[in-house]
Amino acid sequence: MSVLRKDFLWGGATAANQCEGAWDHDGKGVSVADICTGGRFGQSKRITPVLEEGTFYPSHEAIQHYDRFKEDIALFAEMGFKCYRFSIAWTRIFPNGDETQPNEAGLRHYDEVIDECRRYGIEPLITISHYEVPFGLTKKCNAWVSREMIDYFLNYCRAIFTRYKGKVKYWLTFNEINSAIAPMGALLNQGILNDLTHPTEFMHQPDQPQQRFQGLHHQLVASALAVQMSHEIDPDYRVGSMMIYSASYPLTCRPSDVLANQKYNRLYNYYCTDIQARGAYPAYAKRLLDEMGVEIQMHPGDAEILKKGTVDFITFSYYMSSCQTAEKAESGEGNILGGVPNPYLKASDWGWQIDPEGLRYALNDLYDRYGKPLMVVENGLGAKDELQADGTVNDDYRIDYLRRHIEQMKEAVQDGVDLMGYTPWGCIDLVSASTGEYAKRYGFIYVRRYDNGTGDFARLKKKSFYWYKKVIASNGENLSD
Ligand code: BG6
Repeated sequence: MSVLRKDFLWGGATAANQCEGAWDHDGKGVSVADICTGGRFGQSKRITPVLEEGTFYPSHEAIQHYDRFKEDIALFAEMGFKCYRFSIAWTRIFPNGDETQPNEAGLRHYDEVIDECRRYGIEPLITISHYEVPFGLTKKCNAWVSREMIDYFLNYCRAIFTRYKGKVKYWLTFNEINSAIAPMGALLNQGILNDLTHPTEFMHQPDQPQQRFQGLHHQLVASALAVQMSHEIDPDYRVGSMMIYSASYPLTCRPSDVLANQKYNRLYNYYCTDIQARGAYPAYAKRLLDEMGVEIQMHPGDAEILKKGTVDFITFSYYMSSCQTAEKAESGEGNILGGVPNPYLKASDWGWQIDPEGLRYALNDLYDRYGKPLMVVENGLGAKDELQADGTVNDDYRIDYLRRHIEQMKEAVQDGVDLMGYTPWGCIDLVSASTGEYAKRYGFIYVRRYDNGTGDFARLKKKSFYWYKKVIASNGENLSD
């Protein structure tokens, strides 16, 4: 008897802008990801509203998944995947975002991807908007700052919900919706860019919380309407929310640190999911927003929409944890959602503190709070891999990271959590979202492509590929090498 349920959705996750490439093929429009240059840890990628000749834009070729998806899905099937989480590039379906009719070539592409998954019995889990808002909408109305976006998003949802009816069951509305609680989510998650003429550093965009929180309100309303629309189109559809769970602990047991941690949790971990899962703004929202000088414009009827459009399940990414203190303290480099380093934990080469027990905590915390089925749709170790002369990669550090997180996931299930599945991030190496580089690798499959523009995109199985295959075959019981 295994700890995890028999139909546990083992798999992996990617996002279109980080793996597809073919950024302007078959009628695809420009997304906000397509105007981001490469970067690396300690050197922010840049946002260039006007594309620069000779500059490297990693999304333009990424790992060529658009043309190689059959080869990649065959490798996923070889590992025994039951589920593949991928995103649809909004700009393949509506190139500028405001067209009335969808682009047939884009729709056809995802028909093929879904059919290929189905051929192997792999359940597609589709993220509708994963960090690639149409840049046309940024230029037209500064994207999610504007309420018009709700209609553009719903047109897009209608097109894909209708087209893929009967072939898809699970959808996620916005990837890491709560990334917009921090300034780094403004462009990628929300398509907000105030200077359309000059390049900006991705990590240091001038910030306006009013825009981000108003944008979030529009996204939350859009998400709730999308949930309702999906059920009208196909009562079998199941639509989930998707957040970054940033496990957080008080730095000390000083009551002021405990309060600082509570405030952090409310803002980063609960604000969006309270609304998406419980259907209303939480009582604490007003004071938090007041303190930031934010005033949200709501339309009559919004409260009713939020109430009626609660999600069917909750998903999240989990990579790291941090600590909170009421004292003035420097944020640790790499802790992208703020906080200070935990003295008991080690960090990855990118400064993300590794905390497997934090995943057990996260699962219990979310299940206690919402009581809805959960799924871990991202988790993994971004690391520098070394390709050996014989084509192998001995990524024991990745196996160790994943094993320890799966162990904690199983603990959480024994604690009583209803866990649907696990799709580790970047099951095939792809471009990093935060730094825009290839060097930060997550995959079970190595892709021979480098930041200097060299490499033939060949796919090579890492040691973790064979390990994960055994894990899946044993439904998580055999975690040894
Ligand atoms: C999540 C995103 O933030 O984490 C992914 O949903 C992203 O798009 C992943 O790639 C890992 O982050 P990074 O910056 O290492 O690519």
